[in-house]
Amino acid sequence: MKRAIVTGAARGIGLATTKLFLRDGWRVVMVDRDAPELEKVAAGLEGVLPIICDVSQPDQIAAMVAEVIEKEGRIDALVNNAGVADFGPIDETDFKRWRTVMETNLDGIFLCSQEVAPHLKETSGAIVNIASISGLRASTLRVAYGTSKAGVMHLTRQQAAEWGEWGIRANCVCPGPVRTKLAMAVHSQEIIEAYHDAIPLNRYGSEDEIGEVIVFLCSDKASFVSGQIIAVDGGFESTGIGLPALRR
Ligand SMILES: NC(=O)c1ccc[n+]([C@@H]2O[C@H](COP(=O)([O-])OP(=O)(O)OC[C@H]3O[C@@H](n4cnc5c(N)ncnc54)[C@H](O)[C@@H]3O)[C@@H](O)[C@H]2O)c1
Repeated sequence: MKRAIVTGAARGIGLATTKLFLRDGWRVVMVDRDAPELEKVAAGLEGVLPIICDVSQPDQIAAMVAEVIEKEGRIDALVNNAGVADFGPIDETDFKRWRTVMETNLDGIFLCSQEVAPHLKETSGAIVNIASISGLRASTLRVAYGTSKAGVMHLTRQQAAEWGEWGIRANCVCPGPVRTKLAMAVHSQEIIEAYHDAIPLNRYGSEDEIGEVIVFLCSDKASFVSGQIIAVDGGFESTGIGLPALRR
């Protein structure tokens, strides 16, 4: 049976992805630093191993991966989904706020992937890194978040380039807006309406719509897909000159 590690699995996109892996017959290691939430949701699921771990902390990651190998014996996929959002102007983003975003969103993916890669080499496994449309296009208030996500995209290409010879595939998913706790903390009603206007499908996505693409990229169905950046965003990224003045 295949085993996936999903970081940030206690809620939102990570939890939805966990359930889709279980539906497809995988076992899932659910990683999160929110211990009460992780224990609560994992208790209601069959086929999971919950591990409390902060993905920005190298010692915790090493212990997490050692526990996975001891208890599960193999790793077939790593979904680097844990992320934090912080929107603010550049002049108000002090170094502490910048580092808080970078240490989870970018350092966490670098560190987890490095620790897991030798085990993925054994299984010809897959990595899926979660970036964002905020990394595909610059916008106001996202100097740390957007830059961290642009870094995630390039890190994915580096991983695909170097670890391809180990048989490891690495891909990146860029979600558009989804009504999770992360998004709702930073999206006002005005931002929600503006997003609807900028997205050709005219709505937010669901956690499952993102998770389905993640699970596909980890599966054998995507066995020749590597180094790709895939937006799951209702058409947002493709409409760079979607000027309101040019509409019917
Ligand atoms: N929701 C959106 O609109 C949206 C859009 C684009 C990208 N994303 C990305 O999708 C991913 C998931 O976001 P979500 O909306 O489901 O968020 P969420 O806040 O609902 O869930 C994120 C989970 O990650 C965990 N987490 C955060 N930092 C961690 C750390 N250092 N170590 C371990 N666990 C940690 C949190 O405890 C939480 O359970 C993130 O990378 C986010 O940037 C989300």
